[in-house]
Amino acid sequence: MSASNIDLAEIKDFLVEIAQTAGKLIREKSGKVNFDDKKNGVDLVTEVDKAVEVLVNKALSEKYPHFKFIGEESYVAGETKITDDPTFIVDPIDGTTNFIHFYPSSCISLGFALNKIPHVGVVYNPFQDLLYTGVKGQGSFLNGEQLPLRPSAALTLQSALVAIEWGSDRSGNNFKIKTDTFTSLAAETKDGGAFAHGFRSLGSAALNICGVATGSLDCYWEGGCYAWDVCAGWIVLSEAGGRIVGGNPGDWDTPLDSRVYLAVRGGEGQEQFIKDFWSHIKGNLEYEH
Ligand code: IPD
Ligand code: CA
Repeated sequence: MSASNIDLAEIKDFLVEIAQTAGKLIREKSGKVNFDDKKNGVDLVTEVDKAVEVLVNKALSEKYPHFKFIGEESYVAGETKITDDPTFIVDPIDGTTNFIHFYPSSCISLGFALNKIPHVGVVYNPFQDLLYTGVKGQGSFLNGEQLPLRPSAALTLQSALVAIEWGSDRSGNNFKIKTDTFTSLAAETKDGGAFAHGFRSLGSAALNICGVATGSLDCYWEGGCYAWDVCAGWIVLSEAGGRIVGGNPGDWDTPLDSRVYLAVRGGEGQEQFIKDFWSHIKGNLEYEH
């Protein structure tokens, strides 16, 4: 199916409605719910994550019965695959740890992909009432204001504000690569480091990517997240002049489900910035699909 047969703006409007409805529930319940472990004691889920996913799936399958749905809470490892079909790719709460701790940095992330390419994205942080939207070929916006918000100055790694996340895998080679890379990005240039301006972790992949789209952050690097963490943010960022490449060196055209990403804002020197960033990555991150 081609994008010309699908009303992307209508999908965006419907996703905004769902995000605002679900956002009320997320805001009300934050800090008040029990949680369970998934893969380990820092990979968490609550009954609200599950309830929001059910609500979103129901609304979408009623309005778009022929489109597919992939959501974090119903995904089956090794079985659920993204196809070329029109597919909603959804994270009911991105930033569940923040949600549990009543730290006001989580969101609902609603993406729509076609031919495995993000076409529509809606990311809503109900705690700060921040609504990010993006539609392929139609620009991206924060609360109606076109992105990026900050004028795109030239990109350099030394002057960058870099988003990173520790993730939930805290042992083994991937963990070592991450911590060694963090050190190299932070260290002074006389010691071989990038000496970047600073580091931030918003605790939500979607909000990190949207932060890059606004221009507040220069880039975001992570391994271990999934398509539902990045799909919606991807189109918000690319419509703002930014791009997502692989989080391993040399991967200029990374697939939506590669699990390893580097998101970079628009601006002069973007390609050189990506190469410079890659030169500080201390190995090859590898995750199961
Ligand atoms: C997580 C967040 C976090 C990122 C992890 C994700 P969740 O999603 O986006 O920032 O570091 O890779 O899994 O568990 O809060 O939906
Ligand atoms: Ca989630």
